[in-house]
Amino acid sequence: MHIAVLAGDGIGPEVTRQAVKALRAVAANGPQFDFTEAPIGDAAYDTTGDPLPEATAALAERADAVLFGAAGTYESDLRPPEQRGGHALLRLRKRMDLFANYRPVMAFPELIGASTLKREALEGVDLIVLRELTGDIYFGTPRGVHVENGERVGINTMRYTEGEIRRVAHAGFRAAATRRKKLCSVDKANVLETMALWREVVSEVGRDYPEVELTHLYVDAASMHLIRRPRDFDVIVTGNIFGDILSDAAAMLTGSIGMLPSASLNAEGRGLYEPVHGSAPDIAGKDIANPLASVLCGAMLLRHSLGQAERAERIETAVRRVLAEGYRTADIMEDGATRLGTEAMGDAVARE
Ligand code: NAI
Ligand code: MG
Repeated sequence: MHIAVLAGDGIGPEVTRQAVKALRAVAANGPQFDFTEAPIGDAAYDTTGDPLPEATAALAERADAVLFGAAGTYESDLRPPEQRGGHALLRLRKRMDLFANYRPVMAFPELIGASTLKREALEGVDLIVLRELTGDIYFGTPRGVHVENGERVGINTMRYTEGEIRRVAHAGFRAAATRRKKLCSVDKANVLETMALWREVVSEVGRDYPEVELTHLYVDAASMHLIRRPRDFDVIVTGNIFGDILSDAAAMLTGSIGMLPSASLNAEGRGLYEPVHGSAPDIAGKDIANPLASVLCGAMLLRHSLGQAERAERIETAVRRVLAEGYRTADIMEDGATRLGTEAMGDAVARE
């Protein structure tokens, strides 16, 4: 089994290294993994002139799964897209047709004390935000800025074909069917034509999944319910822009962005696994970043692309145990806990 490791920029390499340690630890017995590293992001642009070199993209497409760190820095964010490290990821998602982005949000009981929200609201939170990743207002045309009657006008187009809605809806129902069998579709069908179509198509797909309870929420109401009663959600399926915003809000339920993994899958189930966080230039190279998001990406990769649920669980259990033993990185530090650096946290998980 072949895993492409694209560690990228900033804290990407240091956190990804800890995920590889955990994967090697669970592979001590039984089938081994082959890891191949390749450059992406600013690191690739600086050496090859392209943030997504053809060799890297080809490796990612060939591999059984991709473990990704982070790409881009504040400096390169200001350059034209083709010179921007962060743009490499958008290109790779599009090229591999990774339309389904799963972001699980779990409240680790060990960390609830560190959250700003009430314990009663957080206990037992276990939900997935499924965000459509290759369509919507981020890609629709016409787009751009032009001059109309002497003033500038900015234009983006919210566009979905029913085929694009249908495939992500199926992914949502399938995910819910393996969990608590509740799917909440989030849209803005009351004001947007695209979203009226979204609601209609999701409802049609729902007839194939009588065992899953389907509800619909408008995105504004959904954002409120997500904070007030997060426990009631199982799987949330939504479009690209609403998913972007809702999943960052949901991320804060767990206490730190450094705890959250995500998976982006295509129709063949091949996928790219990346922490929700970015390259965190402010803390890069200081051995203080939380590697657990990346470590948990390793678990998702095993479960969803390699079909190794038992090994995935061993990684997740190891993370829970290390937290229960009171080990913390700086971002989740509490009174009485033992502070570990990035490498030491990775070692602790691998040992467990
Ligand atoms: P960020 O997620 O990198 O950082 C936001 C804040 O969270 C920072 O204060 C950072 O120190 C902290 N943080 C992030 N990950 C952490 C971890 N594992 N442990 C402890 N603290 C952590 O987001 P920001 O600052 O908006 O972006 C920084 C750069 O990363 C930008 O160039 C951006 O374009 C890029 N980026 C890349 C992404 C990707 O590759 N998927 C996603 C988001 C941003
Ligand atoms: Mg975002």
